[in-house]
Amino acid sequence: VLSVKETARPALLPTDKHTLLVRVLACSLSPSDWRTLSGDGRLIKKPSAFPYTPGGDVCARVEEVAADAEEDFKVGDLVVGSWSLFGEGGLAEYYKLDSKMATKKPDGMSVLDAAAMANSLVHAQQTVEQAAVKTGDRVLVLGGSGGMGTLLVQLVRSAGASYVATTSTDVDLMASLGVDKCVDHTKEQWSELAEWKASPFDLIIDCAEGVGAWRACCANGLLKPASEGGRWLCVVLTEWDIYITKWYHIFTFFAPVLGRMLKNKLGRTFSGGRSAPTYMMHLGGPESSAAIARALDLVSQGKVKPVVDKRSPHPFTTEGVQEAFELLRNRQGHGKIVIHVAESQ
Ligand SMILES: NC(=O)c1ccc[n+]([C@@H]2O[C@H](COP(=O)([O-])OP(=O)(O)OC[C@H]3O[C@@H](n4cnc5c(N)ncnc54)[C@H](OP(=O)(O)O)[C@@H]3O)[C@@H](O)[C@H]2O)c1
Repeated sequence: VLSVKETARPALLPTDKHTLLVRVLACSLSPSDWRTLSGDGRLIKKPSAFPYTPGGDVCARVEEVAADAEEDFKVGDLVVGSWSLFGEGGLAEYYKLDSKMATKKPDGMSVLDAAAMANSLVHAQQTVEQAAVKTGDRVLVLGGSGGMGTLLVQLVRSAGASYVATTSTDVDLMASLGVDKCVDHTKEQWSELAEWKASPFDLIIDCAEGVGAWRACCANGLLKPASEGGRWLCVVLTEWDIYITKWYHIFTFFAPVLGRMLKNKLGRTFSGGRSAPTYMMHLGGPESSAAIARALDLVSQGKVKPVVDKRSPHPFTTEGVQEAFELLRNRQGHGKIVIHVAESQ
C-alpha cells in the first residue's frame, strides 16, 4: 500500500511553535519506520491519521521558519533533522520539522550522508558511551552491517578497542571498516568459535539477534565475568520484530528483558560479580538538536564515516520507495537505506 502521491503542500501556521517548513532533499529509513508501517507495534507507534507519510530522518533546505526558531535557523539553511518517537511526515517534498530536533548540516558532508546519520549516529554514539569502551577492549558487534552496526564497529575502534569482531554476510564491507574478524552468520556459528571461547570478549553489542544470542554467549563463556569488566549491551531487545498491539504485549515484550537484567544484577551481587557478565540494554537517550550536532561532529573529527547501502539512494517514486522498504523489512540493508527526494539546488 506504499505509494508516492500528490498532497497539499503544508504551510506553517501561527500556532506552529519551534517549527521549520523544509524542502526535503533526502530521507533515510530505520527499522522503526518499518515497525510503524507494519502496524506490529501500533499500540505505541501509531500514525496520527491515515493515510500517513512515513519517515522522519532527513536532510533538507529550510523554506519557512517559525518566529520562535529564528534565532537558530534562517530560510535557505541546509539542516539535518530527526524525530523522537513517532517519526512521520519526512518522506515527502515538504515537511514540518521540529526545530528542536534539527541542526545545520556540517560543511563538507553530503546530503545523503547527512540524512543517513540523522538518527543512527546519535544512537550509536549513545550506545558506545553506555558501553563505556576502554582502551584495549576486545569487542564483538552482532549485526555489523546494519545501520547501527556499521557505525558501532567504527566507533568502538575510535574509543580504543584493540580487537573488533562482528557477524555479517558482507565480509568485504566489514573489512573496509577496519574489522579484525567477521563471521558470516549464515555459514558459521559465531558462538561456537574456539578462538573466541579461548579469549573471551570484554564487550558484546547485539544489534541483530536478541535473547538466543545472550544465552549462547553465557553457555559458551564468550564474555568475561562482570568482575573482570565483561558486559553485554542489547540494542535489539528480545528479537528484531516487535509486536505490541495489545496492552499485555508491552509486558510480554519488556518483562523478559527486565527479568534478565534483574536476575543478572542479583546473580552478580550474590556472587561478587564473578560469574555473569553485566547485562545492559540501550533504549536511546533524549534526542535533540544538540545530540544530533554532537553526533555529526564525530564524522568531522574522522572518528566514523557514514555508510550508505550500495543500492541507495532510491528514487522518490512508488517503485523506489517500495524497494527501499523491502530492504528494510527483510533486514537486508548494509549501511543506511536512503531515498533521494530532490536536488539541493
Ligand atoms: N537505526 C537506528 O537508528 C536504531 C536506533 C536505535 C535502535 N535501533 C535498533 O537496532 C537494531 C538494529 O538496527 P539497524 O538499523 O542496524 O538494523 P538494520 O540496518 O535493519 O539491520 C540489518 C542488518 O541486520 C543484519 N542481520 C540480519 N539478520 C542477522 C543475523 N541473524 N545475524 C547477524 N546479522 C543479521 C543484516 O546483515 P546480513 O545481511 O549480513 O545478514 C543487515 O545488515 C534494530 O533492532 C533497531 O530497532 C536502531
